[in-house]
Amino acid sequence: MKKIAVLGYGVVGSGVVELFYRNQKKIEKNTGTSLEVGYILDLRDFPGDPYADKVVHDIQVILDDPEVGYVAECMGGVNPAFDFVRRCLEAGKSVATSNKQLVAEKGDILLQIAKEHHVNFFFEASVGGAIPIIRPLHTCLAANDISAVAGILNGTTNFILEKMIHANMSFADALELAQKKGYAEKDPSADVDGGDACRKICILSSLVFGKHVYPDQVFTRGIRDVTLEDVKLACDFGGVVKLIGAVKRLEDGRILPTVMPMVVLNDSLLSHVNGVFNAVMVWGDGIDKTMFYGRGAGKLPTASAVLGDIIDEVKKKDTVLSQSWEPAAEGNDFVAPVSEFYAPRCYRTSPCGSGVFARVAEEVGVELINTRENGCMIGSCGQKKAEAFKQKLAAEGVAILSRIPVLAE
Ligand code: HSE
Repeated sequence: MKKIAVLGYGVVGSGVVELFYRNQKKIEKNTGTSLEVGYILDLRDFPGDPYADKVVHDIQVILDDPEVGYVAECMGGVNPAFDFVRRCLEAGKSVATSNKQLVAEKGDILLQIAKEHHVNFFFEASVGGAIPIIRPLHTCLAANDISAVAGILNGTTNFILEKMIHANMSFADALELAQKKGYAEKDPSADVDGGDACRKICILSSLVFGKHVYPDQVFTRGIRDVTLEDVKLACDFGGVVKLIGAVKRLEDGRILPTVMPMVVLNDSLLSHVNGVFNAVMVWGDGIDKTMFYGRGAGKLPTASAVLGDIIDEVKKKDTVLSQSWEPAAEGNDFVAPVSEFYAPRCYRTSPCGSGVFARVAEEVGVELINTRENGCMIGSCGQKKAEAFKQKLAAEGVAILSRIPVLAE
């Protein structure tokens, strides 16, 4: 008999316990191991809960029990999760976590500790909830030279944008609805300002490109400033506005991770990802591109990924090195600044004739792809040309009301 300890009995932690007992026999058959949830660590008590007798308040109880081989960390945040996870790994227990902040900020350290103690630190649930993406990246797709990853990594903002696009709701009304439905927190900043998606793209970037990428290295812009006029203009140009977390490798080997609202054209599969669903597109030299799609959050979808990790841990006897990465590079020679970002762009403007857009585009040396009375789309260019285009339009008396890059696939 081996025991699983669950740290944190909130939404995800309680989902882990529920799903484990629902499918215990199948999980035991799959792993060939008799398993039990031995402990649930939480500050609170849960009188009346069917698993109330498993609740403990001291991590030491878990650390001292040699029968605990596997730990599901579902607390969230860095403190005290980092300390607890570190001590579990040092005590020879494998850990599976759903905690994206912990992995984005401390992943390299925890992976190193896991390696030194011949155990695993798995984090499938930290990106995309139920979607298998971490494991495919370092196993099924491992033969590829992966050049880019881009996706809808936050369900709350995707729900809000969908309501703006398809139900004509303002950002404020759509946010209120998301809060009513329990998708957005009372303080929605982590979702709407892009922080949540930023942590997820840090994890994907680190895993794919092999060096730790920290949240403060990622250009991050949320969706607070996106207006109904912006989504309507995107629609006129044959696209939808989505919050896109992306990373691509530049020609010189550096990488450029970003989180920002982007126009996704209707011929991209990503444009059809609606509601709270997430999707991740991966580009590799063998696969061309592959998309992963599913529920990016929620109790049982996230629990499914945590338990999948634990099942893998039970079957594996030593550290899985293929999912590790190195500490962050010294200096700033790995993550390129956003000034090196290239993309087509949509500009929303004050009323302007297409002749003016065409003249300015020619002067700046960018392709004019499409125009409307209140905006235009130009071809792929860097920040310098994009800025020049904006300046020259301004000199013509045209006000630039917003600028949204277009996802080029
Ligand atoms: N709040 C996140 C989302 C879920 O809306 O996608 C957890 O990462």
